[in-house]
Amino acid sequence: MEPRIQLLFLVVFIQAYIIAAVTDNHDVIALNSVKNIWRNLPPNWVGSDPCGDGWVGIQCMNSRVSSIMLGSMGLEGQLSDDISSLTELQILDLSQNQGLTGPLPASIGNLTKLTKLFLNHCGFTGPIPDTIGSLQQLASLSLNSNKFSGQIPPSIGHLLMLNWLDLSDNQLEGSIPVSDGTTSGLDMLVKTQHFHLGKNKLSGEIPKQIFSSNMTLIHVVLDSNKLIGPIPSTLGLVQSLLVVRFDNNYLSGSVPSNLNNLKNLTDLYLSNNKLSGTLPPLLGMSSLKTLDLSNNSFNTSVIPTWVSSVSSLTTLRMEGTQLQGQFSSDLFSLPNLQTVGLKDNSLSGTLYIGTKFSNQLRLIDLQNNDITDFNETGEHNIEIKLAGNPICQETGRTENYCVPPPQSNSTSFFRHWYVRKNSGSIPQLRGAKCFSFEELKKYTNNFSEANNIGYGGYGKVYRGTLPSGELIAIKRAQQGSMQGALEFKTEIELLSRVHHKNVVSLLGFCFERHEQMLTYEFVPNGTLHEALSGKSGIRLDWTRRLKIALGAARGLAYLHELANPPIIHRDIKSANILLDQHLTAKVADFGLSKPISDREKGHVTTQVKGTMGYMDPEYFMTQQLTEKSDVYSFGVLLLELITARKPIERGKYIVREVRMATDKAKDLHGLHQILDPAILDTSLKGLEKFVALAMRCVEESGADRPKMSEVVKEIESITLIAGMNPNVETPTSSSSYEEASKGSPFHPFSNESFANGSTFPASI
Ligand SMILES: *[C@@H]1O[C@H](CO)[C@@H](O)[C@H](O)[C@H]1NC(C)=O
Ligand SMILES: *[C@@H]1O[C@H](CO)[C@@H](O)[C@H](O)[C@H]1NC(C)=O
Ligand SMILES: *[C@@H]1O[C@H](CO)[C@@H](O)[C@H](O)[C@H]1NC(C)=O
Ligand SMILES: *[C@@H]1O[C@H](CO)[C@@H](O)[C@H](O)[C@H]1NC(C)=O
Ligand SMILES: *[C@@H]1O[C@H](CO)[C@@H](O)[C@H](O)[C@H]1NC(C)=O
Ligand SMILES: *[C@@H]1O[C@H](CO)[C@@H](O)[C@H](O)[C@H]1NC(C)=O
Ligand SMILES: *[C@@H]1O[C@H](CO)[C@@H](O)[C@H](O)[C@H]1NC(C)=O
Ligand SMILES: *[C@@H]1O[C@H](CO)[C@@H](O)[C@H](O)[C@H]1NC(C)=O
Ligand SMILES: *[C@@H]1O[C@H](CO)[C@@H](O)[C@H](O)[C@H]1NC(C)=O
Ligand SMILES: *[C@@H]1O[C@H](CO)[C@@H](O)[C@H](O)[C@H]1NC(C)=O
Ligand SMILES: *[C@@H]1O[C@H](CO)[C@@H](O)[C@H](O)[C@H]1NC(C)=O
Repeated sequence: MEPRIQLLFLVVFIQAYIIAAVTDNHDVIALNSVKNIWRNLPPNWVGSDPCGDGWVGIQCMNSRVSSIMLGSMGLEGQLSDDISSLTELQILDLSQNQGLTGPLPASIGNLTKLTKLFLNHCGFTGPIPDTIGSLQQLASLSLNSNKFSGQIPPSIGHLLMLNWLDLSDNQLEGSIPVSDGTTSGLDMLVKTQHFHLGKNKLSGEIPKQIFSSNMTLIHVVLDSNKLIGPIPSTLGLVQSLLVVRFDNNYLSGSVPSNLNNLKNLTDLYLSNNKLSGTLPPLLGMSSLKTLDLSNNSFNTSVIPTWVSSVSSLTTLRMEGTQLQGQFSSDLFSLPNLQTVGLKDNSLSGTLYIGTKFSNQLRLIDLQNNDITDFNETGEHNIEIKLAGNPICQETGRTENYCVPPPQSNSTSFFRHWYVRKNSGSIPQLRGAKCFSFEELKKYTNNFSEANNIGYGGYGKVYRGTLPSGELIAIKRAQQGSMQGALEFKTEIELLSRVHHKNVVSLLGFCFERHEQMLTYEFVPNGTLHEALSGKSGIRLDWTRRLKIALGAARGLAYLHELANPPIIHRDIKSANILLDQHLTAKVADFGLSKPISDREKGHVTTQVKGTMGYMDPEYFMTQQLTEKSDVYSFGVLLLELITARKPIERGKYIVREVRMATDKAKDLHGLHQILDPAILDTSLKGLEKFVALAMRCVEESGADRPKMSEVVKEIESITLIAGMNPNVETPTSSSSYEEASKGSPFHPFSNESFANGSTFPASI
């Protein structure tokens, strides 16, 4: 061996040796025993130094493991007692791993430094251990969407730092615990803003003591339980409340009049109970947007007149509430009104919308009433449903408003489609919606040019507005395009399987009248391509570019390494990276993508597809498709991010330009000339490493390019150099809800069919 090589070996050896000492030995043992019973761990969980070797999902402080973030990893196995040896652990996020099953060990109570415990959307069973009450630093506790059974441990009342409590969507039973001098209870949680206990089997009355004026609750979600008895009047003491959901229980008695004190309340759901008596005027609720009183037994046969004075109201539902008498259109002039749901009543007379109706109004549902006529005057854009009224029982009626709503049907591959609300905390398992052509036509105002927001792989993309006011994106295939049909199918099949914060979410589809349309979450800030061109007016400083690079890399790494089977995107480019309002990057457009089965790994021969300038030359020449072709395109995208140049511009190829200009001896590798002037005057910490990474991605041979998980790691370390926290958004959706929803007209518990599904915890 040549001496130089020997020396190199020695250096590598010494470095490895020093690093090996980084992780505390107890933590190494604990992590290794955890590792032994979990499947599908990140591939780099090897060796004996989790901190020093940068195991994916592990963060350390002073040699101790301080956080484990393995959300959406497809982990399988159980949570062993050994986890409790990681005594410095502050964050434990194993959310969205349905394969994690078995009980939550009592020893979890030993992790007394924990501030965040996210085990939502896993497969845990058995009781929530009483020891949970020992986690006195806990600020967020998300155990929702598991199969926990038994009672809510009263010890939760000891978690005095708790801001977020989410136990919803489990099989919890018994009553809601409150303190009584000897035992503790939820009433002690005066710092908690969120009580999410919906979708369980809780029984008994809602205890009066649970609410007091000392509390700071904003969400009280108790829907879909077996609660009985009256709504406690103490609820009116909690003036900070924004959302109250008591729907789908067996509550009885009358609505307490002091709810009127809840000035800030935006959403009140009392539907599907046994409430009776007269409704008190709730005019004090001056922020109220959604009021749902459906399916109760109130002693009120008309829509209370005060409702017409709640000017903030957007949605009123009084289905099945024995309303009768002549229908009056006064209500429609409420300036923010969007949805009126009054079906299954006995309202009679003529429906007349009038001329002073809210310009927000999108839906009037009066099905199954006694309406005899419809005085349809003037232009409007409102969906009106009158099926089941005398007016529609005359023979020969074919008006749209008489047609009963089509039954949505989900095809089999949508059965397990998850649609999630912004908060991620109340998931809804349901088929992607099958939209009718008429619906999509309405939402896009007849596919108007004004709503055309771009051109996708095979047709136009429109912005649509649901009756709720929520935006969606609609991709409409060009008619008669065979290629379109294939890409359409590919996209549905692939997208319905993948769920990741950095991958755009599919909401539904329409196959009607030879139309092929897909609907997605609306991602408001356009494509990265537009942002870089300056068109969209988004200022992209260096840290924002790093954030976008990291998000896109995580999305792509998820597709390559965690989706099952893995997916090669084949068309990674700036025009296929979308940006949401927080500049979270989302990989989109799966029309060319290919799932790769194990058998095919590494050698799929396909017709070459992709976009010039981004396409991997090796793939182009050999027609052998591997994940590394996406890595190449991603490298080009990284270069585009720092230069804001198109990959091929005036005959110049960006990869070659950067390669030629690079002079590692110089500051910024001598790239001043080539960088986007828009970032030159900002701090460019880590730029050299970023360029080096991009250049590794565009190595000629695929074998020399890094895997996407390595790319993610490297960008994470660059973001640290640039002074950012790469995981600043990683804690689950639960905790990021507040930030995410600020200023948004929507809240996570509206009962609308869709949401943005945009907050899957980042992973990888
Ligand atoms: C950890 O928790 C278990 C069960 O709660 C308990 O028996 C044990 O003593 C605890 N260990 C330590 C070191 O605190
Ligand atoms: C509110 O807090 C004060 C002081 O912490 C306490 O004395 C009082 O009993 C509390 N009131 C209620 C209704 O819980
Ligand atoms: C109600 O909302 C206003 C405005 O957002 C806020 O300033 C106020 O503190 C809220 N009231 C309570 C009791 O939280
Ligand atoms: C009211 O009850 C009917 C019949 O059970 C049901 O179809 C409808 O969805 C309910 N309305 C609401 C708003 O829950
Ligand atoms: C309904 O309210 C009216 C007036 O408040 C009252 O006279 C009547 O007895 C009530 N009926 C029922 C069934 O409660
Ligand atoms: C129908 O609307 C017109 C105004 O456009 C009004 O003059 C007329 O009285 C209405 N008819 C009924 C039966 O309400
Ligand atoms: C939904 O689709 C399934 C399978 O294609 C079919 O059997 C069923 O009848 C459909 N239901 C409705 C309501 O159209
Ligand atoms: C959906 O996203 C849009 C824009 O991203 C946002 O304004 C809206 O509040 C979101 N809606 C829901 C229900 O989360
Ligand atoms: C919708 O657009 C189509 C084609 O542009 C046009 O023929 C039709 O008249 C429009 N319909 C309405 C209701 O505007
Ligand atoms: C992104 O879009 C939102 C809503 O469309 C807008 O309010 C926001 O300013 C945009 N973000 C940036 C950074 O421009
Ligand atoms: C809520 O959604 C369920 C389906 O998930 C539906 O049956 C129910 O009618 C909806 N309730 C309201 C108040 O919209």
